[in-house]
Amino acid sequence: MSQQPSAGILSIGSYTPQRVVTNDDLAKVVDTNDEWIFQRTGIRQRRYARPDEFTSDMAIEATKVALQRAELTPDKVDYILVATASPDNTFPNTACWVQKGLGMGDVPALDISTACSGFVYALELAASLVNTGSYKTVLCIGAEKLSAITNWTDRGSCILFADGAGAAIVTRTDGRGRIICSRNGARYDYDALNVAAGGSRQPASHETVEKNLHTIALKGRTVYKFAVQKFEEMAREACERAGIKPADVALVVPHQANVNIIESAMERVGIPMSRVVINMDRYGNTSAASIPIAFDEALKDGRIKRGDYILLEAFGGGLSWGYNLIQW
Ligand code: UT7
Repeated sequence: MSQQPSAGILSIGSYTPQRVVTNDDLAKVVDTNDEWIFQRTGIRQRRYARPDEFTSDMAIEATKVALQRAELTPDKVDYILVATASPDNTFPNTACWVQKGLGMGDVPALDISTACSGFVYALELAASLVNTGSYKTVLCIGAEKLSAITNWTDRGSCILFADGAGAAIVTRTDGRGRIICSRNGARYDYDALNVAAGGSRQPASHETVEKNLHTIALKGRTVYKFAVQKFEEMAREACERAGIKPADVALVVPHQANVNIIESAMERVGIPMSRVVINMDRYGNTSAASIPIAFDEALKDGRIKRGDYILLEAFGGGLSWGYNLIQW
């Protein structure tokens, strides 16, 4: 694979809210238990934001860490991308809130709405913006307050979702954090995963609120099967395009939806779970934020060395999917 162009990840930061909610806590809200949740998902606990803490607040906290690690000030960012399925508002978008919160200048501010695949989409876009030479430093965020759009009467989904944020600074580097290749995709499937109301199809009404249509609805089994197949397919494709073998991948940082999905897919590809980052046991499924939070954790734990091949892969509502292969 060519060494050019050379957009790379300079730094990563993350933020998770303070409030920890265990499976036992959720068992007081819906008919469930710790054993079922852990065995079926790998989740033990998750974190929820405060009522007065919004998606952009978490995005800003994650960005501060990423900027500090990159030794950059906010004015050096010339493009803001925020991947989120739980924006502060329809508009101004969450990227505008981040711009305001960090006191940035009038730089472009764009939200990406591909649910849990948002961060891998954002990273591909960020790399493209940098590689064309149009922008120098792109702030690439995945941030969610899914607790604000969770259906608390649906035990099949409310146990999954959580809040948090992660941010990456993408710029031309000396080869560090190089984004070697990415692919994003989508295939319409409304029933698999949706938030039905609040848009132009079903504007907010008493009825949409009463029927819980402003919250996430999912067909878990449909998404599960789709995800296993896509994770396998994407891992193989990424390696093939980069001219490496799955055995050469030092670490996979997958979207933290369900440990069983990840285990099935990795077994098929032949990547042992010792080379896969799992943190949904502590953070649940934070959608677009899950990959940068897990990536940051792996870096902090010293699991990633210079030159390592790192595969990020995600799937989500749309249905959508995507991967980025990075050489650290
Ligand atoms: O990030 C993108 C969004 N994430 C996803 O779309 C997640 C993908 N899907 C999944 O992770 C899994 O499908 C779930 C975790 C959502 C569900 O696990 P499952 O193994 O597919 O369970 P299921 O939906 O097939 O349900 C099995 C049983 C059902 O009972 P019956 O009909 O067999 O008697 C459910 O009613 O488990 C029951 N069940 C529960 N029991 C206790 C469903 N949710 C719960 C629960 N606690 N929370």
